[in-house]
Amino acid sequence: MRDLNKVLERISTNNASFLGYPLAKDFSFKEFAPFLDLCLNNVGDPESPSTLTIDTKEIELKCISFFANMLSATMKDVWGYVTNGGTEGNLYGLYLARENFPNSVVYYSESTHYSVKKNLHMLNMNNIVVRSQQNGEMDYKDLEQILMIRRDKPAIFFLNIGTTMTEAVDDLDKIKRIIQKYAIKDYYIHCDSAFLGCVAPFADPKPKFDFSEGVDSISISGHKFIGGPIPSGLVLVKRQHRNRIANSISYVGTLDTTITGSRNGLTPLFIWSFIEKNGMDGIKARVLKSQKLARYVEEKLNNLGLNAWRNNDALTVVFDKPSSYVCEKHQLASEGNIAHIICVPGIEKEHVDVLINDLVNECVLV
Ligand SMILES: Cc1ncc(COP(=O)(O)O)c(C=O)c1O
Repeated sequence: MRDLNKVLERISTNNASFLGYPLAKDFSFKEFAPFLDLCLNNVGDPESPSTLTIDTKEIELKCISFFANMLSATMKDVWGYVTNGGTEGNLYGLYLARENFPNSVVYYSESTHYSVKKNLHMLNMNNIVVRSQQNGEMDYKDLEQILMIRRDKPAIFFLNIGTTMTEAVDDLDKIKRIIQKYAIKDYYIHCDSAFLGCVAPFADPKPKFDFSEGVDSISISGHKFIGGPIPSGLVLVKRQHRNRIANSISYVGTLDTTITGSRNGLTPLFIWSFIEKNGMDGIKARVLKSQKLARYVEEKLNNLGLNAWRNNDALTVVFDKPSSYVCEKHQLASEGNIAHIICVPGIEKEHVDVLINDLVNECVLV
């Protein structure tokens, strides 16, 4: 037990101090302790019961239905499941895209999360990386140039609704205009909204990325804006795409429509408890509070001359990379010359003030 106590102590300390990752900290799921002594398994399709009835699929479906509604769809047209995280949701979206259009080319920006390249490799899909603009958004001129000489191929657009480093949002309208200009008839649009899936519906202006805009699939991480001790996520797709790949498996008596067979039964409970506690209004209030903190951080950092900026009203504040000491102390993610703070729920003004104070001291020393 001594080893476990040490690990617990380390994680507890480090949980309190990290500022650079999009993981909400304001959760408690102690009420679910009784489930920890039970076998739980949501094996297979959430809508299809298994011979093994130790699942939380009825709760999982409530989560999917809530998110479908938030993403302007109903369960009639959309299907989904609770994944192990954003990476799995992206893999799933790309898998359905490939099953729809086997000879396609995937277009995604260079600011895309590192896991997507690996997903494409596993799926053996042709793909082209599109340049990014300075703010992390796709460079539409580059996309157009790449696409105009490949009009004969079905196109799969992998869009970022919040890039990892700068929270940039790819502009669906601009991409649709390019699709129209080159008369591309066969295309599929996947939105990676790992962090912003729960945020963007409440942003003003609201980015276009949901089912009302005709997108085919959307991946969201559960442990990011919602928060939780176990990575999780949700993937929602047009029902017709899921139907195309559905296979019935007699061993488990359910449909094999998900990436993994056995699936987590606990995380849907966490997500549902978040939904029940917050509802749409509560989620919106969380978004507004986080945006307010991000505005404060941006202003304070700019007062120190650290070139802070945000995409629109993002929760991510990008600024000049400080010393390794500060990056390590506050667990700030960095890339090249920039670092960022992500103002997730659970991070309060007093936490960022500690960082700002450290930065003030560094500025004085320079
Ligand atoms: C834009 C984006 N996509 C995908 C992922 C991967 O999500 P996960 O860590 O939930 O697998 C991340 C993680 O940071 C991300 O920022």
